[in-house]
Amino acid sequence: MVNYKDLGLVNTREMFKKAMAGGYAIPAFNFNNMEQLQAIIAACTETESPVILQVSKGARQYANQTLLRYMAQGAVAYSAEISGGKPVPICLHLDHGDSFETCKSCIEFGFSSVMIDGSSKPWEGNVEETKRVVELAHQYDVTVEGELGVLAGVEDDVVAENHSFTKPEEVEAFLAQTGVDSLAIAIGTSHGAYKFKPGTDPKIRLDILHEIEKKIPGFPIVLHGSSSVPQDLVKIINEHGGKLKDAIGIDEGQLREAAKSAVCKINIDSDGRLAMTAAVRKVFDEKPAEFDPRKYLGPARDALKELYKHKVINVLGSAGHAYDK
Ligand code: G3H
Ligand code: 13P
Ligand code: ZN
Repeated sequence: MVNYKDLGLVNTREMFKKAMAGGYAIPAFNFNNMEQLQAIIAACTETESPVILQVSKGARQYANQTLLRYMAQGAVAYSAEISGGKPVPICLHLDHGDSFETCKSCIEFGFSSVMIDGSSKPWEGNVEETKRVVELAHQYDVTVEGELGVLAGVEDDVVAENHSFTKPEEVEAFLAQTGVDSLAIAIGTSHGAYKFKPGTDPKIRLDILHEIEKKIPGFPIVLHGSSSVPQDLVKIINEHGGKLKDAIGIDEGQLREAAKSAVCKINIDSDGRLAMTAAVRKVFDEKPAEFDPRKYLGPARDALKELYKHKVINVLGSAGHAYDK
């Protein structure tokens, strides 16, 4: 058993309390490798933002859970080195936990927060499994994110074709019956880089968010699937040999609005993938003789860092809040 506190990590409780009071959201960025981790930590430390490092089931398979945990521990020291003093608050979070067993394994392995995603299950199954995870997690002061409503798009290997918005009239009962610390809701965001057709004007349902807020005032809300699919990145990728389909993502202005209210955590992964891919494709196209991984992963890391700085400063509003009392 490894307790996250011994690794210098924090759970989401204080983070969300401050984010709620300050009208901003904590960035939740996924990582699978060293370059992504370096970019996230450098971006958040330089902008003085708290951060949630997210690890999906796919990331655990790709990078090995043991390595990921040591990397997160190393991230605390790396952040302190960059700041020349205290590290920014760093939470290690399981993204889309698919079962009690997966959550248990992470809780015992140094994660400070877990998501149990029972959103594809009927109500009873979702409540039962979420409650079980909460009972275990709280014994170790690990915080738990549950989900109500189904997002469109791909969640790990589950494709949710028929999304359904979260029903505001159900949230109070879900919280009371499960004891979760935060709730992911479906209000029109979706996973992946292919969210909406170009030429449409997709809007997330802030009206549903406000209805939910009225039912559970002051309770931390989470938005998944919040990439904006920057068109300049899609263009660079396709100009350098890529074949991405045309698509647009979530409007950053709407995310900024959501972050000012009860939305305390915003999940972004796909935009980072696009930034890294654009940088790597550009190097391969312009310098075909290059074969040192540092020469293409380095630019990819720099591009990711810049993108994430933009997110924390201009979209989430979390910059400058790392050391708030
Ligand atoms: O919501 C999913 C995240 O973007 C993680 O994706 O399951 O491919 O690691 P992944
Ligand atoms: P995007 O695919 O929109 O980046 O969403 C990521 C996410 O929700 C991770 O849980
Ligand atoms: Zn997600």
